[in-house]
Amino acid sequence: MVSAQGREAGSDAPTLDAERAYRVMLLPGDGVGPEIVAAAKQVVAAVGARFGFAVTYEQGLLGGCAIDAIGKPMEDGLVERCRACDAVLLGAVGGPRWDTTDPHKPRPEQGLLDMRKHLELFANLRPVKCFASLAGNSSLKPEVIAGTDIMVVRELTGGVYFGKRERRADSAYDTMAYSEAEVERLVEYAFQVAGGRRKLVHSVDKANVLESSRLWRAVATRVAEAYPDVELRHMLVDNTAMQLIREPRQFDVIATENLFGDILSDEAAMLTGSIGMLPSASIGAGGVSLYEPIHGSAPDIAGQGVVNPCATILSAALMLDLSLGESAAARAVESAVETALEQGARTADIAGPGEPALGSAEMTARIVAALSRVGRAEPAGAGQEPR
Ligand code: IPM
Ligand code: MG
Repeated sequence: MVSAQGREAGSDAPTLDAERAYRVMLLPGDGVGPEIVAAAKQVVAAVGARFGFAVTYEQGLLGGCAIDAIGKPMEDGLVERCRACDAVLLGAVGGPRWDTTDPHKPRPEQGLLDMRKHLELFANLRPVKCFASLAGNSSLKPEVIAGTDIMVVRELTGGVYFGKRERRADSAYDTMAYSEAEVERLVEYAFQVAGGRRKLVHSVDKANVLESSRLWRAVATRVAEAYPDVELRHMLVDNTAMQLIREPRQFDVIATENLFGDILSDEAAMLTGSIGMLPSASIGAGGVSLYEPIHGSAPDIAGQGVVNPCATILSAALMLDLSLGESAAARAVESAVETALEQGARTADIAGPGEPALGSAEMTARIVAALSRVGRAEPAGAGQEPR
């Protein structure tokens, strides 16, 4: 399994070596997908040149673009091709063009769900970190969100997303089912992540109503016994939705089932001021993980060159860290994004009143420029050396 905390610096030789040639599957998808993926590629090329590694790409059809091309939301053989790569970088899927309430018509989202299932992407990591320079952008008061640093660990291959469902003549149902094993591996992963952070896990459920949540809670309690240095707190999902707005700093790691995690992570994203800033990593049990921004395909602004590329660029940073082992490069990308923001670079979604908004290409160029000023990887422990 990929380490969620793989932050140990490797050897960071600035010259290109064959071992550090990586292959990534690009799935640009729909709407703004192709634009943000192109931006991330540019940043990866720049950081690769600086840190001495190279990434080459394959490309695949997933989502509405696949429906248009071949009549189904995922091209044949795509899962196998993904498995043969070091990682998968996804833009976004979906759009009103393919929206339908007809259960017999193909949906772009089904391609993504199938990909999650087949690659066994069981844990979705959604870091929610407030950039200091964007504190004024949140709809919450800056003093409430300052210092917020949450990792949502969302179960991604079970629950109501994959349970038995049926549409009947005048009714329909979905089922939320979990096995102990599914809950266990997610909660264990969350505890491991928390161990490298502030050592607090909120396990979020609806155990006052749902049987699957009572199983979830029992398993979480049992798993916690193996992690005596990490505190476990149970919290009901409705209360969590409220507490995230009331006092977000109380959270470190949130471990929760698929649908709750979908909803809570969109809510948590707005703590940072814009969902356009938030990356995600979907960790594959089979070794290949997938990286994507948590915002969708934003069809209203697609093709206009104005989408915020930061979430995808930060997703690429997670990929460098967790799948490619290029942790120093990942940190360089993160700090380049931070620097560009500090220097006032803003796309429309994060520009304050009267602040000029950059297009996606200019924003990306500002991040690449900031990157070129970030020093090469320092030897391990350099930070501790006396001046
Ligand atoms: C997400 C998205 C997806 C989900 C959609 C596109 C199927 O909202 O990744 O959060 O619901 O999981
Ligand atoms: Mg979602």
